[in-house]
Amino acid sequence: MKPIYILNGPNLNLLGLREPNVYGQETITDLEARCLAKAKALGQQIDFRQTNTEGELIDWVHEAQSKACGIIINGAAYTHTSVALHDALKAVNIPTVEVHLSNVYAREPFRHHSYISPVAHGVICGFGGQSYELALDGIARILKSTGKA
Ligand code: DQA
Repeated sequence: MKPIYILNGPNLNLLGLREPNVYGQETITDLEARCLAKAKALGQQIDFRQTNTEGELIDWVHEAQSKACGIIINGAAYTHTSVALHDALKAVNIPTVEVHLSNVYAREPFRHHSYISPVAHGVICGFGGQSYELALDGIARILKSTGKA
């Protein structure tokens, strides 16, 4: 069974330390553990990664085309800036769900535009770490309905 890639962008390695009032107390390791438990309950495999580099994120999206059955992506700040990430996600033909810990629409206007949303199946934001669990529920359902899980 191919894993679902859970890809995390810049500064998410600082979770727990970074603006805990916005992003909560959970570290990226806690978040990975939460995703592993949820994936296990759904009978799915995951490959959870984080990078601060735009090119690496794009390389992982390309790799997902052959090695993953779906992508859950928190592009972090690249969500709002990266045409390259938009193009990469558009190029790969596997289900993709965009996630954010915070409700980006309740925050600064520059966070209201996403280059990922137009090329994602759906978007989940504002539920803290639970956003990822909801995204796993969503993608598992898509995979079942398309016979890929
Ligand atoms: C974020 C929201 C982005 O606007 C921000 O740049 C992040 C994290 C979130 O998960 O809430 O780094 O993607």
